[in-house]
Amino acid sequence: MIERAHIPVLVKEVLDYLISEKFSLFIDATVGGGGHAFSILGHHSKIKLIGLDVDEAGLAIAARRLQPFGERVRLIRGNFRDLKDILAREGIDGFDAILFDLGLSMYHLQGKRGFSFYDDSFLDMRMDNQQEKTAFDVVNRYSTERLENILLQYGEEYRARAIAKAILYARKKKPITTALELSSLILRVKGKKGRTHPATKAFQAIRIEVNRELENIVSGLRDAIEMCRPGGRIGVISFHSLEDRIIKNTFRADERIKVITKKPLKPSMKEIKENPASRSAKLRVAEKI
Ligand SMILES: C[S@@+](CC[C@H](N)C(=O)[O-])C[C@H]1O[C@@H](n2cnc3c(N)ncnc32)[C@H](O)[C@@H]1O
Repeated sequence: MIERAHIPVLVKEVLDYLISEKFSLFIDATVGGGGHAFSILGHHSKIKLIGLDVDEAGLAIAARRLQPFGERVRLIRGNFRDLKDILAREGIDGFDAILFDLGLSMYHLQGKRGFSFYDDSFLDMRMDNQQEKTAFDVVNRYSTERLENILLQYGEEYRARAIAKAILYARKKKPITTALELSSLILRVKGKKGRTHPATKAFQAIRIEVNRELENIVSGLRDAIEMCRPGGRIGVISFHSLEDRIIKNTFRADERIKVITKKPLKPSMKEIKENPASRSAKLRVAEKI
């Protein structure tokens, strides 16, 4: 397979809305391959950046890419749900801006880690390889009711019950060990309609369950709002409605911030054409009062 680099989304919008000459410390809570971080550090010649990621593969790419910025960057392996504790350990009690760019990076999909429908290696789907629970555990050990709930709740998958039953039936004969086995089973249940793979929603749901993605957003945002300095900015790029709903509701409900983007910012037609993976991205920005 040809390795393709992750293309950061909504870069101009991130620079326009999250950077000011007055800012001195930026937190990239999902530094990944360092795409946004590279643009931020290049755009503002004095700003310092802390880049956080739970995935060591991402941090290794970011370390190479951001090397030219030397002391202005510090990369930390950690989960943004623990943002406050992680920054406290660094002796940091506040920052001027933070970006959460949620979702997967190219290195997840290409990394033989069970994220991709056609991957015939182990059904893993962990972003943090120090964590115990994998997609294999969810698919092979959860009860049918629990599986059905996850598919409904995190995937809004209308064939949740049929898929959960098919999983149960298959795993009685032998465990489902690869992403390809799982996506082929879902294809058999749902049939092929349209251009998106029929397993898209189920894969999203299982990934969210494995990585506790929605809980992490809630607690990461709570810490971010608390620690952002007055006049500072909080930006979140999301890729599906479950994430976006949490961000929208959190921003609206918290009186310590004001919403800057009444409607989320979306990629232009030009950006979508150049990078189709950006098509569902939405950026919401709030300012600490
Ligand atoms: C879409 S990628 C970020 C890409 C990055 N902005 C760039 O331009 O290269 C999302 C990253 O967030 C990381 N991530 C997801 N959940 C996380 C969490 N709870 N804490 C820290 N990092 C997380 C993933 O490992 C992944 O590297």
